Amino acid sequence: MALRTLDSLGSLAGKRVIVRCDLNVPLKDGIITDDGRVRASLPTLNALINAGARLVVASHLGRPDGAPDPKYSLAPVAQRLSELLGSPVAFALDTVGESATDAVAALEDGEVAVIENLRFSPGETSKDADERRAFAQQLAQLGDALVSDGFGVVHRKQASVYELAEILPSAAGLLIEKEVEVLDRLTENPERPYTIVLGGSKVSDKLGVIKHLLPRVNRILVGGGMMFTFLAAQGYKVGASLLESDQIDTVKAYLETAQQSGVEIVLPVDAVVAASFSATADHVVADADALEDTPFGASGLGLDIGPRTADIFADAIRSSRTVFWNGPMGVFEMPAFEAGTRAVAKALTEVDGLSVVGGGDSAAAVRQLGFADSDFGHISTGGGASLEFLEGKKLPGLEVLGWP
Ligand code: 3PG
Repeated sequence: MALRTLDSLGSLAGKRVIVRCDLNVPLKDGIITDDGRVRASLPTLNALINAGARLVVASHLGRPDGAPDPKYSLAPVAQRLSELLGSPVAFALDTVGESATDAVAALEDGEVAVIENLRFSPGETSKDADERRAFAQQLAQLGDALVSDGFGVVHRKQASVYELAEILPSAAGLLIEKEVEVLDRLTENPERPYTIVLGGSKVSDKLGVIKHLLPRVNRILVGGGMMFTFLAAQGYKVGASLLESDQIDTVKAYLETAQQSGVEIVLPVDAVVAASFSATADHVVADADALEDTPFGASGLGLDIGPRTADIFADAIRSSRTVFWNGPMGVFEMPAFEAGTRAVAKALTEVDGLSVVGGGDSAAAVRQLGFADSDFGHISTGGGASLEFLEGKKLPGLEVLGWP
């Protein structure tokens, strides 16, 4: 692996180290609802603390518009980080201003400060490389080295992810190192049978990964909202279920390519169809070729894979040696429509081999459904980043750290 890793930075004792994490966690009324990304940052932070570095933790949260917005403050994240580290964490009220400068100047060896949301400055996400570089120069004043560990954001060419890594001596943290190592195993010589499970609402988000992985996998299981575009491509009526009509031809082409190359694309044979999009809606199980033959007719909405499909998917997953899963099978947030996602998650915990849950919604789903991170081979902290990695795209935040 050509990635520059922590040891390439030499001794960090007494040095100010900016640690670019992805602490973009879901918040509800100021409360963190899933702290997975904060936990995932701990190994690197602890390694640097133990090495006697002075840590300046930087992250984005949400998508503020290049200006401070209290809704997106990292304050609750700094608080959670302090709880998880079991030691005080200073919090700067700005990103590169007086508060940040003072907080960093006050750090002793092994201490941690979190600076405010990087995206409160327009330079972080600017499309203009000079503007990004100017902001990165300001950030660089806060540190002697950069440890880049925000895997979830490596697909973004942003100041703290890209330009800052060029300006300061930089290396990947332990999280990025692990993510790259696991995801690379999915693209280079995966053990077979190799199955990918795709769900979530949009086919268009997954087309790149299907195209790139079609020649590399043995099976693709398709569930979630995107299954209806696949069913429509087979000529089935899908009622009022999610449908991307403009993708039907592309999907048809993939189905043909898969057939010619001996890759199995496994589509649902049944679905849970509801009268409306509501947790208490009436619902029934219908065969995939009869989705409109329910009491709800053409206004029925498919909100989960059906029980026969869940069994077929679970068998296919359990009999695989490598499995990558991205995207829930249904509206798992509503108990009436969580069974398909639960069945897939459970089957992944039973894989004799490598099971990987691709970030975002699927990671939130497994935790919400009560599974532990340790039940799986790996839960990626990257949603878009892990998909783009598997699509074979060049990721700026990795390229700048030496990854091809
Ligand atoms: C994510 O949640 O996928 C990452 O934190 C990146 O966030 P972004 O899509 O807003 O760049």
